Amino acid sequence: MAGPDPAIPSRTLPRDEGSPVTAPYLQAQGVEVAFGGLRALRDCSFTVDKGKITCLVGPNGAGKTTIFNVITGFLRPNDGHVSFQGRSLDGLRPQAIVAAGIARSFQNLRLFVDLSALDNVMVALPSQAGEEPVGALFRPLHVARAQRAQRERAREALAHVGLADKAGEYVRNLSYGEQKLLTIARLLATGAELLLLDEPASGLSAGALDGIMALLRRLQQEGKTLLVVEHNTRVVQQIADDVLFLHQGHLMAQGTPETIIADPALAEIYFGGAL
Ligand SMILES: Nc1ncnc2c1ncn2[C@@H]1O[C@H](COP(=O)(O)OP(=O)(O)OP(=O)(O)O)[C@@H](O)[C@H]1O
Ligand SMILES: [Mg+2]
Repeated sequence: MAGPDPAIPSRTLPRDEGSPVTAPYLQAQGVEVAFGGLRALRDCSFTVDKGKITCLVGPNGAGKTTIFNVITGFLRPNDGHVSFQGRSLDGLRPQAIVAAGIARSFQNLRLFVDLSALDNVMVALPSQAGEEPVGALFRPLHVARAQRAQRERAREALAHVGLADKAGEYVRNLSYGEQKLLTIARLLATGAELLLLDEPASGLSAGALDGIMALLRRLQQEGKTLLVVEHNTRVVQQIADDVLFLHQGHLMAQGTPETIIADPALAEIYFGGAL
């Protein structure tokens, strides 16, 4: 096994001693983000329950990707807090948040198209043995063993999403649907228990869409919690236990897919009255 990566302080999460045992699994409280004069998130507050698939919906520019960036440490909010299992995530870097158990995918995939599928998973793993040249020089067997373990973990993640036979394939030769699956394999390889997926179903054919939905449900059955940005109402209806409706950076409503989709005021905001 690889030794602990000094760049990833896995035990530095400040424990909130006073918090009750029943602290929300994931909680955003009063999050504010401003880009110049634009308030991308305003007093944004919500909770996500452990074990559920929660869909985050809302019109373009509502702030969905921005709240993902805040939760995962890519963006420091101007105000507000995020906590995970009762522990504050404030000020933690992205690697520390992955070590705490939260991994995210990106709306624009961020894959290395000139690397193999396996290598794309390998680079996402939190600790790469042999990163320190001096250590690699003096402990070559240890490094080789650790690299084998990392490769095995990456292969398992590919198999998990049905890409076992594509491990050696260059990403540019994969279909768009396979590339989407690869982004999920990268998250699984980190071992994170809370997965944040930014539009995992966008741009997919009907067949690939069914495959992704089945995969997300399977991950839930295996114990993962999912927070999924999704525009497709059919997908939301089929996979969501809970829906968060974001509008102009603020949580407008939270409820079951049925109640959210049936709400005429929300449909007016989302579809401009097209429904
Ligand atoms: N780095 C940035 N600099 C300036 N403005 C930004 C930045 N990132 C996002 N914004 C703006 O913040 C607002 C929220 O953007 P965000 O990407 O979070 O929306 P979204 O809900 O993910 O939209 P979409 O459904 O189109 O992906 C938008 O008005 C966007 O233009
Ligand atoms: Mg977005």
